[in-house]
Amino acid sequence: MPSLLDPLTIRDVTFPNRIVMSPMCMSACNEEDGKVNDWHLVHYTSRAVGQVGLIIVEASAVQSNGRISAQDLGIWSDEHIEGMRRLVEMVHAQGARIGIQLAHAGRKATVPGAIAPSAVPFSEEYAVPAEMTQEDIRKTIKAFADAARRADLAGFDVVEIHAAHGYLINEFLSPLTNKRLDGYGENIIGRYRFLEEIIDAVRPVWLKPLFVRISANEYHQDGNTLETFIDYARRMKSQGVDLIDCSSGAVVPADINVYPGYQVPYAEAIRQSTGIATGAVGLITKPSHAEDIVRNHRADLVLLGRELLRDPYWPLRASKELRTDIPVPKSYMRSW
Ligand SMILES: Cc1cc2nc3c(=O)[nH]c(=O)nc-3n(C[C@H](O)[C@H](O)[C@H](O)COP(=O)(O)O)c2cc1C
Repeated sequence: MPSLLDPLTIRDVTFPNRIVMSPMCMSACNEEDGKVNDWHLVHYTSRAVGQVGLIIVEASAVQSNGRISAQDLGIWSDEHIEGMRRLVEMVHAQGARIGIQLAHAGRKATVPGAIAPSAVPFSEEYAVPAEMTQEDIRKTIKAFADAARRADLAGFDVVEIHAAHGYLINEFLSPLTNKRLDGYGENIIGRYRFLEEIIDAVRPVWLKPLFVRISANEYHQDGNTLETFIDYARRMKSQGVDLIDCSSGAVVPADINVYPGYQVPYAEAIRQSTGIATGAVGLITKPSHAEDIVRNHRADLVLLGRELLRDPYWPLRASKELRTDIPVPKSYMRSW
């Protein structure tokens, strides 16, 4: 019966515990160049000192027009590798593992040149995106593979493909946003094709753990359902994806009733139905809640977002509450 504080091995990578920092945009690139700066080094390394097992770096754009904001991190050029490598080294030095979320904002990009499967804006506040040609699709798939190669050169332990929250890949997956009549739309297989080809392009250049984040509920009567995502999870598993990170929403504007652990049932259902490992996220703040999720096999990893912004040393709190020792940073020995 694994515990939250037990290690987990996926492929050849061992995470020291199952506490994960959820990817969170910092909007901290002052130069609008997508490069790692002092903020990112301090922010992420603090959570490594705090003994988070895996830190997933925020949505990092695979193309410059795929940024949610001009202050987002990027991985669209080889010039981004150096800063990322420094970040990886600093986090590794504290014993944590580090992943990166590869992303394209699609129609939700607020930088010039927004693209999407169909020319439908997210809301009135957003620009009308250009409908992608098959050439655009080909280039964007290659951009994900190039980004994965750069992630490897920088030394990351995990790549997470961002297919959630109504960004580009999610826009292809959803019937609410994909109105295409070529092979990249029309039905559930066609809408999966863009993600399918991205995974097939990434897997040969990225041999370490590969995660995909999904929005398992679109909160709309005509949107994808959990059943669709169980089918997609089976396909991803057969393509060599190791873990599905189960989020929800943000595909179209919607009212969502949120409460502690409200997305955990998606992680549990996908895990039980397909046998693929899953991550649970969303309003998980208490160590006993996170422990319950892992002990009862509801998910393999527990991701914390805002709680880790409030408290970089949350794992210490968890170790006290769960009465299990975790490693102590040597210099903090007298206080931990
Ligand atoms: C400031 C902020 C930035 C976020 N940026 C991202 C992101 O880059 N990628 C992503 O998949 N989710 C992003 N999210 C969502 C979080 O990863 C997480 O799924 C969400 O906050 C729910 O978890 P929580 O209740 O523990 O915060 C962001 C959330 C916050 C608060």
